[in-house]
Amino acid sequence: MAYSTVDLPYFDLILKQLDKGDQIFEQAFGRHVHWGYWANPDQATYTAQDYGEAAEQLSVEIYAAAQVANQQSILDVGCGLGGTLASLNEHLETVSLYGLNIDARQLERAKNKVVAQVGNSIEFKQGDACELPFADQSLDVVLAVECIFHFADRRQFFQEVFRVLKPGGRLAISDFAPLEFEGWPDFFWRSTSVLPSFYGGFDITYTMKKYQEMSAQVGFIGMQERDITRNTLPTYGYFQRLPLALEMSPDLLPAIAQTLCLEGASRLGLLRYMILSWQKPLMSLLE
Ligand SMILES: C[S@@+](CC[C@H](N)C(=O)[O-])C[C@H]1O[C@@H](n2cnc3c(N)ncnc32)[C@H](O)[C@@H]1O
Repeated sequence: MAYSTVDLPYFDLILKQLDKGDQIFEQAFGRHVHWGYWANPDQATYTAQDYGEAAEQLSVEIYAAAQVANQQSILDVGCGLGGTLASLNEHLETVSLYGLNIDARQLERAKNKVVAQVGNSIEFKQGDACELPFADQSLDVVLAVECIFHFADRRQFFQEVFRVLKPGGRLAISDFAPLEFEGWPDFFWRSTSVLPSFYGGFDITYTMKKYQEMSAQVGFIGMQERDITRNTLPTYGYFQRLPLALEMSPDLLPAIAQTLCLEGASRLGLLRYMILSWQKPLMSLLE
């Protein structure tokens, strides 16, 4: 099966540094490739180890929102290098874990690094989040950690998750959400084909109102929102120090510029980092 190609310059850089054996990148991004969560942001130390630990905690906060438990079948969509699955594998028993990613290079690394503990199983699959290769009503939990903004169509992803979840199953995600406002210019929260984008194609135009409307139309109930922007802010302090660990090149300019824009918007309260979760009803009104 052919998959749409994935153009994510930030992942090209991370995979290049990991292949070189860069220990700073290994500590910071060898397991998770997402923002960090600091319970006490004032205590961030801005080291690679501190960043790696905060990234681990972000996964924990997200899967806690999905109420993961022993004996469940859990899918992590856009699973990156397998860090969230590795964490679930370490904390849960008799679980069936699945990782889906569009990028075969990431899956290769994840397969080599994440080995199921006795009693658990882990399967990695290549595929697109908007066409989940899973049977109807086959999963207890679906997670999408900091990746939904790359997907071609959020509604289609939600419909797919609704299809594959068992009744009562849960979905938890993290996403960047702009302040509720109708008049944002279109280019403001979307990558454009005009400027180079270090973060690849992304769309962070989904406000909480849009999430509420779309998720209810798909059939989900019980949307929970948690604004953790404050807990993620040390991410930017760490990223500002990262170019010092790399050979400076013009290729890094879009990275620096885009990260500064995200930081400014987050500090001004224009952009929030949210953990969101939903439940599929035990009984469908449509049945
Ligand atoms: C910011 S990374 C997050 C990775 C991982 N969830 C983590 O937290 O470490 C975004 C991920 O989404 C994946 N991705 C992007 N588009 C996708 C799609 N259409 N289907 C599946 N995965 C996709 C990327 O390959 C990448 O692994």
